[in-house]
Amino acid sequence: MCGIVGYVGQGHADGRPREVVLEGLRRLEYRGYDSAGIAQVSPDGTLSTAKKAGKLANLVEEIDLHPLPDATAAIGHTRWATHGAPTDRNAHPHVAGRLAVIHNGIVENFVTLKAELAAQGVECTSETDTEVAAHLLARAYDATGDLTAAMTQVARRLEGTFTLLAVHADHPRTVVGARHDSPLVVGIGEGENFLGSDVAAFISATREALELGQDQVVTITPEGVVVTDFHGAPAEGRRYTVDWDTAAAEKGGFASFMDKEIHDQPHAVADTLLGRTDVRGRLVLDELRITEEVLRAVDKIVVVACGTAAYAGHVAKYAIEHWCRIPVEVELAHEFRYRDPVVNARTLVVAVSQSGETMDTLMAVRHAKEQGATTLAIVNTHGSTIPREADAVLYTHAGPEIAVASTKAFLAQITATYLLGLYLAQLRGTMFSDEVEGKLVELRAMPERIQTVLDRSDRVREIARWMADTPSVLFLGRHVGFPVALEGALKLKELAYIHAEGFAAGELKHGPIALVEPGQPVFVVVPSPRGRHSLHAKVVSNIQEIRARGARTLVIAEDGDEAVRPFADEVFYVPQCPTLLAPLLTVVPLQVFACELATAKGLDVDQPRNLAKSVTVE
Ligand code: F6R
Repeated sequence: MCGIVGYVGQGHADGRPREVVLEGLRRLEYRGYDSAGIAQVSPDGTLSTAKKAGKLANLVEEIDLHPLPDATAAIGHTRWATHGAPTDRNAHPHVAGRLAVIHNGIVENFVTLKAELAAQGVECTSETDTEVAAHLLARAYDATGDLTAAMTQVARRLEGTFTLLAVHADHPRTVVGARHDSPLVVGIGEGENFLGSDVAAFISATREALELGQDQVVTITPEGVVVTDFHGAPAEGRRYTVDWDTAAAEKGGFASFMDKEIHDQPHAVADTLLGRTDVRGRLVLDELRITEEVLRAVDKIVVVACGTAAYAGHVAKYAIEHWCRIPVEVELAHEFRYRDPVVNARTLVVAVSQSGETMDTLMAVRHAKEQGATTLAIVNTHGSTIPREADAVLYTHAGPEIAVASTKAFLAQITATYLLGLYLAQLRGTMFSDEVEGKLVELRAMPERIQTVLDRSDRVREIARWMADTPSVLFLGRHVGFPVALEGALKLKELAYIHAEGFAAGELKHGPIALVEPGQPVFVVVPSPRGRHSLHAKVVSNIQEIRARGARTLVIAEDGDEAVRPFADEVFYVPQCPTLLAPLLTVVPLQVFACELATAKGLDVDQPRNLAKSVTVE
C-alpha cells in the first residue's frame, strides 16, 4: 500500500531531488496508484508541492505545466486510498504551516485527534487520516524547533500503522521518517541519502541499504543517517547490500512486468534452489534459525498467508504431509488471527509472503508467537518486517516482483515449501537420504520444464485472445491441481476483471455443476496418469460430466496423456514430472492465459484496478 520516497542531496539546489523522487515513485507505483504527490524544500526556505489524482503520469504532467523550483530535499508518495476518495485534495503530501507530510498506513485514532485539533481551532481540509499527523507534527515542531523530536512525540501519539515522512521549510537538508508496523528502508549514498517503502525506491542510485527496526525514527541529511526509538534513544539499523540491480526492476523488452515475471519463473525457481546442499549432497537450510531439536518435536504445521501466497501453502500441505507425515493446516492469515487457533510450543507456524509486509500475515505471526508457537517466514523481500519478527526465515530468491498480481513469487514460494518439507523429512527420518536426493534432482529439473511450458504458450495466448469477451470461466482441479485451479481463477479475476471460480473437481457434483451451461469455458487441471491412477480417472470423468452439459473444456495435462483428448476442446500439454511438483508447471498456462486475455481487453496487467502490491493495512 502507498509508495513512499525521501531524498536529501548535496548542499546546492538542483533538479535531482525531484528526479530521484519521481524515479522512485515510478518504481514504487505498483504499491498504489490512486494519486501521487511530491513536496520539496529549497535552501531559501521555500516549501513547494504538487499532487494529482490518478496515476503518476498525471503528476508528471502537472509538474511539466507548473515546474517546481530547484531543491535540496524532497519526499514523494503514490497512494492507495483508505480514508477519503482518490482526489487531488486527499492526495499526499499534506501541508501544515511550513511542513509537509506523507503517510502509509492507517491512523486508527484519527477521529479523536481530529476532534482535539478542532477544539484548538485547527481545521482539516481533506478527508484523510494523514492530515491529522501533519497538523500534530507542525504543532510539535513549533513547540520544540526540532523536527526529529517533533516526529518522536507525534509517533508516540498515533495508533494504528504508519510510515510517516516529513520535510520542513526551515530544514532544507533534512528528511525525517518514522515507522510503526509499516515498511521503511534507508538507502545510503555518497553525499546523499534516501528513504523508501522498499529498496526499489532508490535502487538506481544505490544498493547500500539500512533496515530499520519497529518503532524507530530516522533522520537523513547529506552527511548521514541517525536512528532513534520513539523516545529519542539511539538505535541501530542493520546495514546490507541489495542483491539485485536496476535491470531486475525493468521490463527488459517485455510488454509488461507481468509478462516479464512470468518468463522469469525458471530463474526464480532455480535461484530459490541454489546453494541448498552441503558437500555430501545433503539438504541444508542455513538461514533456518530453529534448532533441529525444536523441528523434530513439531507435531503440527500451520501455514498462514493471504491470496496467492495461501495457495502456495495449499500446495505445501500435500507435499509436506506426504513426505513428513506431519499434519499441515493452511489458513488465511486474517481468519487465523481472529479465531482461537489451537497452537502451542510444538506447532510450527509458517508465514508465506512475497512482500514480507502483509499486515494480516504479520499479525498472524505475532498471534502465533504469543501462543508459544515457533514461527518461520517464507519471504521474498529482504529487510521486510515478517522475517524480522518470525523466529526463522527461509528466503525465496524470485527477485523483485513489480507487477501487482503475483506470479514468479508464487512458484518460488512453492519451491521453498518443498525445500522445507524435504528438510523436515530428512531431519525426522521419514524419507531416506537417497529419496531426498532424488527429489532434489527432480526439483532441479523443474526450471527447464517450466521453460518448456513457456516455449509452448503460443496456443494458450491465441485462445485467450479469442476469449476476450467471455463473461465467466471456471477452473477445476484435484489434489495439488485444486490450489492451481484456485490460483488460475484468482489471476483471471485480478487481471481481466472476469468472473472466475476455482473448484475442487470432486466438489463439482455437490453444487458448482449447476453453473455449467452450453459454451461455458472450464479449465481442468488433470493429474498425471502415472501417479495415483484413480485420481486421473476421476478427473477424466469430471471432464466428461461437464462436456456432456455443453462446457467448453480447456484441459491441462501431462505429455503422453491421450486419455483426455476425446473429451477436451483444447489440451495444453506440460512436461511429465512427479505428481507433487506438477503445480510448478500446470499453473503457468493459466498465468499466461490471464495475462494475455487482460492485455487483449486493453487492461493494465501490471496495475489492476483497486489492488495494491503490498497490503500493509488490515
Ligand atoms: C495475487 C496477489 C495477492 C498476494 C497477497 C499476499 O496475485 O498478489 O493475493 O499474494 O496479497 O501478499 P504477500 O505475498 O506479499 O504477503
